[in-house]
Amino acid sequence: MRWPPTRIFTLLVVLITCCHGYNWKSINLPEIHIPYYFTNNPDISRLCGNDTTCPYQHLLKENKCWGYEKNCNEDERLSNPECPDDSRGWAKTKEEQLNTFWQGGDFGYVLERRKEMKTICKPKNPDDSSLECAKYMRYCRAKNIYLDFRHADFDTNESFKENFLLEGEIGGHCKLHKSALRAESEHKSALQSWYAEMEHFTSLPFKPIDDKNCDVIIDKPVMFMKLDAGSNMFHHYCDFINFYLSNHVNNSFSTDLYMINWDTRSSHYSDLFKETFDAFTEHPMMYIKNLRDKRVCIKDAVFPLLPRMRWGMFYNMPLIPGCHGSSLFQAFSAHLVHRLKIPQDGPLESKIRITLLDRKTKYRNVLNQAELVSALKTVGEYEVKQVVYKYKELPFLDQVKISHNSDIFIGMHGAGLTHMLYQPDWGSVIELFNCGDPNCYLDLARLRGVKYYTWEKIDKLHQEDEGHHPTLGAHQKFTNYAFDVQEFMRLVAMAADHVRSHPAFIAARKLKYKLPKDEL
Ligand SMILES: *[C@@H]1O[C@H](CO)[C@@H](O)[C@H](O)[C@H]1NC(C)=O
Ligand SMILES: *[C@@H]1O[C@H](CO)[C@@H](O)[C@H](O)[C@H]1NC(C)=O
Ligand SMILES: *[C@@H]1O[C@H](CO)[C@@H](O)[C@H](O)[C@H]1NC(C)=O
Repeated sequence: MRWPPTRIFTLLVVLITCCHGYNWKSINLPEIHIPYYFTNNPDISRLCGNDTTCPYQHLLKENKCWGYEKNCNEDERLSNPECPDDSRGWAKTKEEQLNTFWQGGDFGYVLERRKEMKTICKPKNPDDSSLECAKYMRYCRAKNIYLDFRHADFDTNESFKENFLLEGEIGGHCKLHKSALRAESEHKSALQSWYAEMEHFTSLPFKPIDDKNCDVIIDKPVMFMKLDAGSNMFHHYCDFINFYLSNHVNNSFSTDLYMINWDTRSSHYSDLFKETFDAFTEHPMMYIKNLRDKRVCIKDAVFPLLPRMRWGMFYNMPLIPGCHGSSLFQAFSAHLVHRLKIPQDGPLESKIRITLLDRKTKYRNVLNQAELVSALKTVGEYEVKQVVYKYKELPFLDQVKISHNSDIFIGMHGAGLTHMLYQPDWGSVIELFNCGDPNCYLDLARLRGVKYYTWEKIDKLHQEDEGHHPTLGAHQKFTNYAFDVQEFMRLVAMAADHVRSHPAFIAARKLKYKLPKDEL
């Protein structure tokens, strides 16, 4: 049985599209990323050169590279991070500081993982199985693998049950390096590594697909997933950035793949941001529990980088101080905006667009919000919007559209600030008060390359009470705040200065509002 049973449909699509050459639309990347795509796919680049229907011929001569390719010059990259401030003892030289940022928070990360790739199960013949993994099995790629779910316990309440598949239930027709596999166990943990899933990988005496041992054969590429909380944007976007990183590690950006959730629980994964998956797959999300009682063979599978890896992106990530502007995050943002079809309506000719996020939750509300908003409205240059981002009132992609059209985004400490990922490159973000958690959104802003501001003068802030953490007692995150209006306006003015003087903002305004000279 093929899974899902859509063979006839697939065949039709092939017949319809086969004779008109390459389907250029299927690349589906922002035009600015196409030259990078050509660099990494020279065959497709040549094809474009010879195909008059290729819409990207004008981009063929641009030499661009992400930075993980061989012989990639810094001036050919999308952008380069900067480290104007001190590393606070993390690095001895500027060069080392930049390098650390590049390898930990930018495309250097992809190169590091690629360098680590090791064959764990080695094929003898081209049609054999294979398993290759990065260090600690934070990422694996497998071919022609066999997964036998007939004895797996799907009635558990554990998300990522260990020993779910045992000896002989996961494997392939290839020579297993047992000691190489055992050597990668150190990060064994649900959201840090695939070790627990691969632990019982077995060298099988049969060829899974050829010897007809499969109840289900999946032809399309598969990306398995172990997801962080789908109810929290900060956590869930750690999943998405890692899918994007994994696309880079595997050099594949096609959406014609199945994403299969390795959640072993019987209950469903709840997801408030599921629209984001449209940037990665054109097919509905699937679950391994749909494969219950089946022997499954998969021709091509990627086990992507995970959301809570040690030194991973971007949960609990120790990010070297003093640097900002990751081209990886810039590319990620553009990739999402393109694939989710989020329009950029700005910049405005003479105004700066300010969005103030109203949490409307029990804690971390702004007690004098109305006062702050009316102060903002006295400044003619500010176009002010107050928003409540609750998916039931405002669908997620409508929220994203607003965030993408916010030159300045203002909010209290909280996962809603993750929307800064969608801000334009010239954006500023103001975390009104960080509630004693200074690094979380500062670091995200440094990665995204938007300018970050937060409340500095504690004497100009009023805390409603000591705060009421459910178990820890007094806590800054569990109360509400009022802010001094003048000091607030000073922060916003600095944020507006940053926007106004940003080269990308100036260029975008010019492009939009000034006609070229010869048309005047
Ligand atoms: C066109 O195809 C030929 C052979 O298939 C190849 O050698 C050549 O480089 C291609 N032309 C361009 C402009 O890429
Ligand atoms: C999960 O199942 C175990 C054993 O069946 C039970 O003891 C435990 O309370 C359950 N946990 C949750 C969160 O439901
Ligand atoms: C990984 O990359 C290869 C090309 O090298 C591609 O054929 C395959 O579909 C990709 N796998 C996934 C899951 O994207």
